Amino acid sequence: MGLKSLVLLLPSLAVPSTCSSCKSSRPFLLAFAVSFSALPGFSFCSERNAYSPLEAMNRYLYLLLCSHIVLTTSTELPVCIVGAGASGLSAAHALEALGRHTVIFDAKDTVGGNAQNYYENDQAFYLGPLLIGNSSHPETMKIVESVDVPVTTYTPESSWIFNWTTGETWTAPETPQTPPPEFLEELQRYTENVSDELTVSTTEWFTEQKFPLLHATIMPSLIAWGYGDVDELPIFYPLSIFTPAALMGTRLRVDFHEVFQRWSRQLSRSEIHPGSKVDCIDRSEETITLYYTSSQNQNTPLQQSCSDLILAFPPTLSSLEAAGLSLSAEEHTVFSAVRTTNYFSAAVRLDTPHLSFFQITTETPYSSPEIAGQPVSVEGQYNNSDISLLYALASHSQSVEGVADVTLQTLSRINGDPTDDDAITTPVTPTDIKAFRHHPYYFPHFEADALRGGLYDLFNDLQGANRTYFTSGLNRVEHVEYVVVAAREVVQRYFST
Ligand SMILES: *[C@@H]1O[C@H](CO)[C@@H](O)[C@H](O)[C@H]1NC(C)=O
Ligand SMILES: *[C@@H]1O[C@H](CO)[C@@H](O)[C@H](O)[C@H]1NC(C)=O
Ligand SMILES: *[C@@H]1O[C@H](CO)[C@@H](O)[C@H](O)[C@H]1NC(C)=O
Ligand SMILES: *[C@@H]1O[C@H](CO)[C@@H](O)[C@H](O)[C@H]1NC(C)=O
Ligand SMILES: *[C@@H]1O[C@H](CO)[C@@H](O)[C@H](O)[C@H]1NC(C)=O
Repeated sequence: MGLKSLVLLLPSLAVPSTCSSCKSSRPFLLAFAVSFSALPGFSFCSERNAYSPLEAMNRYLYLLLCSHIVLTTSTELPVCIVGAGASGLSAAHALEALGRHTVIFDAKDTVGGNAQNYYENDQAFYLGPLLIGNSSHPETMKIVESVDVPVTTYTPESSWIFNWTTGETWTAPETPQTPPPEFLEELQRYTENVSDELTVSTTEWFTEQKFPLLHATIMPSLIAWGYGDVDELPIFYPLSIFTPAALMGTRLRVDFHEVFQRWSRQLSRSEIHPGSKVDCIDRSEETITLYYTSSQNQNTPLQQSCSDLILAFPPTLSSLEAAGLSLSAEEHTVFSAVRTTNYFSAAVRLDTPHLSFFQITTETPYSSPEIAGQPVSVEGQYNNSDISLLYALASHSQSVEGVADVTLQTLSRINGDPTDDDAITTPVTPTDIKAFRHHPYYFPHFEADALRGGLYDLFNDLQGANRTYFTSGLNRVEHVEYVVVAAREVVQRYFST
């Protein structure tokens, strides 16, 4: 019996399909089969019901063989995922749906990525994404419903505009309950007339297309959500986020940290290693090896072999190098063009009225504020809590301490009752800052020139090269819904055979 016919015979062993499909056990299986076929009286295709002693041994060895194979199957190389945020968890869920298993690493000691909370008096202050809507987040909404975390509404009791250098505050104009006809007219044109040229700046595009109301409507969100300088920002990104449906849909809130915690517990074929720092990724051999240390035991280097690697975090040169990845020339070209914003979120105790909302003033309704580390939006969260959430944007050269300083100074100027013109504001001190989160690689994106230069084509060409995949806000835009969808797309496109 030649080897070839033996291979053909293997399926007739009627072993579980995982046995025969397990590549790494194939040589072992063949070795057994060959040695068996050499035994007198042995047949793979025995139809008899009675067991000869030889057949009994055959069965015994068969069981041994299979237990070995089952073992090999369960240790079949997983897909390694670096990053346990929206992107990494979505990739893991999509891979599990295809029957694969994964090992997920995250330097944070908890899952959720940017979705982290500060807790006080049983209340959660969301330091990451918090908005959700059926029209803007259809896929995310399904996840939220599957883990049964409630969605809530948020309406500030009072809204204010503040000048960050003087501390002057005044009442924000009221948002009409129903949009005026002029707004609806713009929305209609916006739907029909999306320019082909998506690489022009946001400011230029809205001005050229004559969308003053839409422009003024999205500006506060673009500023508060950390999308950087709108004069530079290619219109491609805002158009992805502010779809007509999203502009008209309801904005609800959800505790994304809780959502991702629960969702991660629904993974059944994945191992999650929170608090583990990936120090080196070796892609030089057929098997990828990832070296990491756990925060509990930093002196013991650990390693994990994987069939494929998914990098589920913003792929900047410095973050990739920090993970010990030695980049190919192609990867270097793409990732050196990635830009991010230096974004901060914080929970801070203030003397402003509960549920009051402060938004920074700008030169015109269409301009970005200075990017100097000052808070751009300050929002009281609960009617019985004096903790507010704030967001700040800084240049990359600004230090975290510098941002903390300017944040305290700015808050000290507005920390009081804005309804009382003569009220003296109270200084805000470092102890009032309850949580301060730095997002140094927020909103990974390409600038207009890079977009025109076809960087997305080059980026897409990298997917799967050297068994490496990239999924993060860069694939589409930093926005939970798109991060979830993009990670699934990568898995479905490259892992389903
Ligand atoms: C979202 O839409 C679906 C389908 O229309 C509905 O069942 C669900 O209740 C909605 N969820 C929320 C939070 O509005
Ligand atoms: C689309 O935009 C062009 C140029 O900006 C304008 O001339 C045209 O009228 C617009 N079309 C619609 C349907 O608004
Ligand atoms: C894949 O790896 C090889 C060998 O390290 C390298 O030469 C090549 O540039 C890599 N390809 C991409 C697209 O990164
Ligand atoms: C804030 O107030 C100062 C002093 O009145 C003024 O010079 C500055 O332009 C204001 N800032 C903005 C963005 O309006
Ligand atoms: C505070 O909010 C809770 C729900 O968040 C509500 O039940 C309660 O009535 C509110 N209290 C006041 C004084 O508005």
